[in-house]
Amino acid sequence: MKKIPFNKPYITGQEIRYISEAIASSSLAGDGVFTKKCQAFFEHHYGFNKCLLTTSCTDALEMAAILFDIQPGDEVIVPSFTFVSTANAFVLRGAKIVFADSEEYSPNIDASKIESLITPKTKAIVVVHYGGIACEMDEIMDIAQRHKLYVVEDAAQAIDSFYKGKPLGSIGHLAAFSFHETKNIVSGEGGLLVINDEQFFERAEIIREKGTNRGMFSRGEVNKYEWTDVGSSFLPSDMIAAFLWAQIEQIEQIQSQRQKVWLQYHQQLQPLADNQKIGLLPVAFTKQHNANLFCIITQSAEERTQLIAFLKHRHIASAFHYLSLHKSPFYARYHDSRILKNADKFTERLLRLPFYSELTTEDVFQVTESINAFYSSNAHQ
Ligand SMILES: Cc1ncc(COP(=O)(O)O)c(C=O)c1O
Repeated sequence: MKKIPFNKPYITGQEIRYISEAIASSSLAGDGVFTKKCQAFFEHHYGFNKCLLTTSCTDALEMAAILFDIQPGDEVIVPSFTFVSTANAFVLRGAKIVFADSEEYSPNIDASKIESLITPKTKAIVVVHYGGIACEMDEIMDIAQRHKLYVVEDAAQAIDSFYKGKPLGSIGHLAAFSFHETKNIVSGEGGLLVINDEQFFERAEIIREKGTNRGMFSRGEVNKYEWTDVGSSFLPSDMIAAFLWAQIEQIEQIQSQRQKVWLQYHQQLQPLADNQKIGLLPVAFTKQHNANLFCIITQSAEERTQLIAFLKHRHIASAFHYLSLHKSPFYARYHDSRILKNADKFTERLLRLPFYSELTTEDVFQVTESINAFYSSNAHQ
């Protein structure tokens, strides 16, 4: 039986060529030619107001926390079922995280529960588009507007996804994307801050450049560059951007291959879902997703453990995902006593299947066939 890894970053073959070009240009630091090309692509292709490449999505989220001027004691509403950076970026500024539960059938934040979490100290809402499937953005933006709160879209997994025709990342005041090797387009590590609200344009550029107005200096707008604000080194070298440019050039091919894999999984696993053996994430037609991952929901934590072992025995790698942050060793002591049952359910029962653009039709069949074999045997009892 063929060995099927969990992830295999897609390499276009042009990465080395563009990195060589960056080297030949003798301009290796940040904001070089390739950085500008990548940023311009995201701005034009998705209509994002202003884009700044960062070295990771984590960095982009940390920039968002600084831009929102989060102060010690401010409260930020964050889903519990997410990656640590979604919350940590705000904890670094002294925020209290108020964890929100997921929806019943999807790991996305339950928009209907957000309003009850708002207090006079609430400053921002962070949403995570799990697996590139959009959160209920109309509802969330409406709540934010009524309570004068900022919204950041943690769109780490959501490049090329849409909500009612709008690209994800274009809806919140700010958005953060990841180009880590498990994402649809990659640069090893890498990220992007999208600034939709113009009030943050100037300060974002300064924060990303160690708190200096170097950007203005490079454009000849000031005659020396100075320390004007807080900041850090959030910008990537142009070699990272050169790598990303090669990926951007092939985004359409990458996406069509990933969509094909996603559809195959979906069609082949739907019968098990119809028989209520497994759960699948709902995808409304208003939420055109980017085929970032494919996951199933098992009936119990034990069943998931058995299925992982069963697949491993057949040389198939599978992986669970986030662990509820409100129960984490670091944050459990600060969490109020609310039970977040859906976040815990996805922590215990969500299982991601191998997913990458070069997964063949035979590979997908090997995986779904094995899952079918598991559920029709006694292996899971
Ligand atoms: C929802 C979410 N936010 C943020 C991140 C952090 O991304 P990065 O590794 O680019 O910092 C991840 C990582 O996968 C993630 O899943």
